[in-house]
Amino acid sequence: MPTIEDFYSEEREIAPAEEFARQALVTDRSLYEAGEDYESFWEAQAKSLVSWREGWSRVLDWQLPFAKWFVGGKLNVSYNCLDRHVEAGLGDRVAFHWEGEPGDTRTITYADLLGDVCRFANGLKSLGVSKGDRVAIYMPMIPELPVAMLACARIGAAHSVVFGGFSSEALADRINDAKSEVVITADGGWRRGKPIDLKANVDIALESTPTVKHCVVAKRTNTPVSMVEGRDVLFEEVMSGQDGVCEPEWMDSEDLLFLLYTSGTTAKPKGIMHTTGGYLTQVAFTHKYVFDLHPKNDVYWCAADIGWVTGHSYIVYGPLANAATSVMYEGTPDFPDKDRWWSIVERYKVTKLYAAPTAIRTFMKWGEQFPKSHDLSSLKLLGSVGEPINPEAWMWYYEVIGGGRCPVVDTWWQTETGGIMISPLPGVTTLKPGSATFPLPGIGAEVVDDNGATVTKGGGYLTLTHPWPAMLRGIYGDSERYKQTYWSRFEGRYFAGDGAKVDDDGFLWLLGRIDDVMNVSGHRISTTEVESALVDFPSVAEAAVVGASDDTTGQAIVAFVTLKAGEPSSGDKGEEIRTHVAQKIGAIARPKTIIFTDELPKTRSGKIMRRLLADVANGRDLGDTTTLADPAVVEEIRNRAGSGSSDEG
Ligand code: WT7
Repeated sequence: MPTIEDFYSEEREIAPAEEFARQALVTDRSLYEAGEDYESFWEAQAKSLVSWREGWSRVLDWQLPFAKWFVGGKLNVSYNCLDRHVEAGLGDRVAFHWEGEPGDTRTITYADLLGDVCRFANGLKSLGVSKGDRVAIYMPMIPELPVAMLACARIGAAHSVVFGGFSSEALADRINDAKSEVVITADGGWRRGKPIDLKANVDIALESTPTVKHCVVAKRTNTPVSMVEGRDVLFEEVMSGQDGVCEPEWMDSEDLLFLLYTSGTTAKPKGIMHTTGGYLTQVAFTHKYVFDLHPKNDVYWCAADIGWVTGHSYIVYGPLANAATSVMYEGTPDFPDKDRWWSIVERYKVTKLYAAPTAIRTFMKWGEQFPKSHDLSSLKLLGSVGEPINPEAWMWYYEVIGGGRCPVVDTWWQTETGGIMISPLPGVTTLKPGSATFPLPGIGAEVVDDNGATVTKGGGYLTLTHPWPAMLRGIYGDSERYKQTYWSRFEGRYFAGDGAKVDDDGFLWLLGRIDDVMNVSGHRISTTEVESALVDFPSVAEAAVVGASDDTTGQAIVAFVTLKAGEPSSGDKGEEIRTHVAQKIGAIARPKTIIFTDELPKTRSGKIMRRLLADVANGRDLGDTTTLADPAVVEEIRNRAGSGSSDEG
């Protein structure tokens, strides 16, 4: 039996369009060839994309599983993101077209950003923050957020950004793990027209965080907040009267740039450590080549939240290192209406859009009329990240949003990898809808079986075969857990925890988390392939499958299915869908039960929480629901689970 079954075959192939290839940065295999000697490859990228105060003595020091890149090199990340562009005469270039959810806007140039960062950096120093400290940041998507991050980077303090949707308890845990002395927050942020009170959450968190001396509060919603004398201070007061010049702290290449806690669903969150030189090199490289960046002409928009690694690497550090012009949007896609994103694309003439499959499937569910009511002809390239993108969602993105002209780059990576690892290079890679295609130049990725042997065709575990510059340097305060989690399953390899397969042409297909693989009569079936077959049914917008224990087959597949707007779930729909899956990928993968639902339970970052669905399908009490974006969804699904369409009739 294969480690993971390989059912789905995709016949569609899309070669780079001539018009795109004509202007693309990469149109041949030379970068890939250069990448075969990965140390000299990354050395060349570090030299060409990053400005160093002092060079390194060694490219890589690899004491498995501990890596040091550009050993002895000195640099400052905020200098690389700001000063050098202003020095090169680009001070007037827009860094961010920022748009608040209520519709207010700010245009922030590189010169503006440099001035603000210097003033805030000086302000942080006056609060006692110094090199090596950890600063917690808990903010909405407002310009003060990248200012705070860059100010930390400027003075050598590591930031630990906690997503603004997390609870006060999650915030307190992260502050305590990092022993942060300063927390930067806001009075609130806008979400679906309502202010979310962030400072109130911080106040609760700070009751159990003995290390915190100061709390800096940016004004956004003008919600009244309580300010504790001597501890709390307004962001604008921290900045006011400060010098607009602040000499950057010259950091060692391996100094900590930030901590980012992974939203582990059950276990204690892991403080993923990212350092300076290697991280900046890889995010600059990947942002430039994966998005085929032309910084003078592009308007780039990564629609993630900065609270996730996607926002760290591809809203803040990658784009700013490359002197790009970005859009930054505060709110939700359905406020005031379901066309908000497309209105933004039209008004700012966005050329490159980077989004998550969950958003794309939601737009599919809402219907084409929303994107179709706007001029999206400025778009040149589309990106996807965060989950496997089902071939039908990929095609919808390609055709409806991209007008059939824009390559779709499906980018695989993790908080731990720091930057994109597997992705097409859009001017040269032939695309297959649903495939992340190949490892980028300088990256080693392979699929292996249970014994660690390389799989050249079919399914298995995704591993990374050698160190890469933006790799995590460890888990904060827990090197044993670092070794155990990532480096113990397969000798000498990084284990990503994802299933993947290799097709006849060597393309890589991500198959979802290993923990979610189902076992039906001894066949190990990935959630991704069954879900892709479900989404392939014309009226299905989104689907999640889980294994439910079954007396005959060990596990049986239970499918939770969301239909497109206006599609009825009545009649034989469930039966038709089950038959469709059997025809598309095989009878063994036919769901035993289909449960229709308007929403699927998701994390705040948009990943489907199959674990909770498995609890529902197995009639168990629900496990931890604290990371759910909308807790009401599971209750609703539980009520419906009694009335599914199944073999039992
Ligand atoms: C996990 C990492 C990468 C930044 C956002 C998420 C899944 C991510 C893809 C993709 C299939 C993907 C994996 C991975 N994932 N991108 N293109 N195709 N799966 O970061 O929260 O650390 O999650 O997201 O399962 O391990 P993260």
